[in-house]
Amino acid sequence: MIKIAPSILSADFSKLGEDILKTKDAGAEYLHIDVMDGVFVPNISFGAPVYKCIRKLTDQFFDVHLMIVDPIRYIDAFAKAGADGITIHHEACSDQIETLEYIRSKGCRPAISIKPKTDPYVLEGYLPYVDMILIMSVEPGFGGQSFIPSAIDSTRVAAELVKASGRDIDIEVDGGLSAANVGLVTSVGANVIVAGSAIFGAQNISAAVKEIRDNGENEYRRLLK
Ligand code: DX5
Ligand code: ZN
Repeated sequence: MIKIAPSILSADFSKLGEDILKTKDAGAEYLHIDVMDGVFVPNISFGAPVYKCIRKLTDQFFDVHLMIVDPIRYIDAFAKAGADGITIHHEACSDQIETLEYIRSKGCRPAISIKPKTDPYVLEGYLPYVDMILIMSVEPGFGGQSFIPSAIDSTRVAAELVKASGRDIDIEVDGGLSAANVGLVTSVGANVIVAGSAIFGAQNISAAVKEIRDNGENEYRRLLK
């Protein structure tokens, strides 16, 4: 079964709590929390104090996506604020494995992400250290961009590497996903789906979560057959 991870970057922050509860009621298992530093990506979002406040609202899995350089500096703060999983970028530091091990030592699930132009075979070296791989299907930095089709191949490669490793590692895809195209990535092995504008920009948040899940799940089941 796939999991849905609404990205709060696209939420209306004047009614953040209300909209998060709608995703929870719609059965979204995760909340995707995009942290940006204005250095690794050309945008600044929010940090631990913001999601610490929403932690008390919901028991959804807090999937914290760090788009910041040298993330090891902030792992303590992000873990303490209530992260369940923490994703770092392959391109954002040189001590990736140490950082992933540190994330695990703090009781969080470690994950590694690659940008759309990064060779997916770099993921091989991370397999012993991660519980999830995040394939970016837009250049990180902003919500509401168009899906980059090369992410389909990267997802397929990631799924093959995971299968060969024998480890139980989730594959998440993030950027430009909607009910219309989610099947493109679940059909090649993605099982955690991030969607920002397609969920928080929808008239009916609950219907949007359901439609993304139904379409994604259909293709995922076909793959498992
Ligand atoms: C982009 C972020 C994404 C983004 C997704 O840097 O990592 O999580 O918010 O938003 P949509 O689904 O609108 O592309
Ligand atoms: Zn993200």
